[in-house]
Amino acid sequence: MAGSLPLHGRRVLLGVTGSIAAYKAADICSRLGKLGADVYVVMTPEALQFIGPATFRALTTHPVMVNLFEEPLTDRIAHIDLAQGCDLVLVAPATANVIAKMAMGIADDLLTTCLLAVPDSTPLLIAPAMNTAMWQHAATQTNMATIVSRGTECVSPGYGVLACKDVGYGKLADVDEIVTAVCARLNHVSDYKGIRVLITAGPTREPLDPVRYISNRSSGKMGYALAAEALRRGASVLLISGPTALVPPVGVEFVAVQTAEQMLAACLLHAGTCDVIVGAAAVADYRVEKASGTKMKRHEDESLSLRLIPNPDIIAALTATRSPRQFIAGFAAETDHVVENASRKLRSKGLDLVVSNDVSRTDAGFDVDTNEVTLHWPDGTIQELPLQSKLATAGAILSSIAAARSSISN
Ligand code: CTP
Repeated sequence: MAGSLPLHGRRVLLGVTGSIAAYKAADICSRLGKLGADVYVVMTPEALQFIGPATFRALTTHPVMVNLFEEPLTDRIAHIDLAQGCDLVLVAPATANVIAKMAMGIADDLLTTCLLAVPDSTPLLIAPAMNTAMWQHAATQTNMATIVSRGTECVSPGYGVLACKDVGYGKLADVDEIVTAVCARLNHVSDYKGIRVLITAGPTREPLDPVRYISNRSSGKMGYALAAEALRRGASVLLISGPTALVPPVGVEFVAVQTAEQMLAACLLHAGTCDVIVGAAAVADYRVEKASGTKMKRHEDESLSLRLIPNPDIIAALTATRSPRQFIAGFAAETDHVVENASRKLRSKGLDLVVSNDVSRTDAGFDVDTNEVTLHWPDGTIQELPLQSKLATAGAILSSIAAARSSISN
């Protein structure tokens, strides 16, 4: 039974640092253990202010280590043994301070000393958690860029109410997401290594005047999940996004746009270098023919007519100018006749795959964390995926695309 667990026999070093989110590390530790991992916990002295070592001792059945000079074994050196004997290192939560130390190579406690001794071939993941201002500070962002460029993977912090009651980015990513990232890395899913992926995400905004626009309810969550998952699986990712409330996953190349025309221009500029393109953006189909340069005034007795003209179809423009062997997938947001509409879009836009979802549902589609999609293939095959997190949906879509690409090239 234990042998069938996904992390059976894998040794994980879990570093816990001094953030209020440290209590969530107990859940992470327990979840990894239940998946079969053998977890060793190293805490910083500051983490002890938030959670006691007995919790991790009980969850892992291993001694929890804090001090550099506390050597439990006489024949081995603890920090080298811990760092070099594990299959993966996870720091969760990771404070701004530990991120700065990692960037600078500072080793002034057991955890940071271990982190410096981790071999390059061992996956190193961090899940930052801190106040929004600290996360967005140029120093933290520069330190993040440094460690990501050296191969550290970041499970990006989320948006929400923080312990300090601020609302913003900096909240520890969902435990689910962190555990999924660990599983993906340990199961060596790197089927996108050497592949460049372009993803469009979010809504577009079409201005009416300097203060008003036409847009839609897209949150960008599905496109950002695809970007995070492709990155995790080794792709070089370019995310071209309309305005959303999301933070781009650390490590993706990011182009922010507002209108459909800007998104088209950015896509045409970069598409030539990309192997896989996924159009997850909810592009506004129309824009006003001529946006007013000044704020339009309200006139009580007059109705207002706006003349709308069609926006370019971005994904169709990309399939029309595609390079050979480029794989192009689109989404189909539907409220009715899902299969018929998705098949029509597959043909009319010249796509290799259409991912349809019913956006009239409350648990799938716009602005929720779950999705239930169906894959429509040019040979008429239809593949229904279960209701699952957008990250898991992204993983399944990317696996299907990878399989389709390899069957075309064989
Ligand atoms: N799309 C695009 N450019 C547009 C409209 C849509 O690239 N101007 C892409 C979307 O990113 C998605 C696919 O086309 O991958 C289908 O988008 P959807 O909004 O479902 O369909 P539309 O083509 O806009 O058709 P309709 O609104 O009539 O359903």
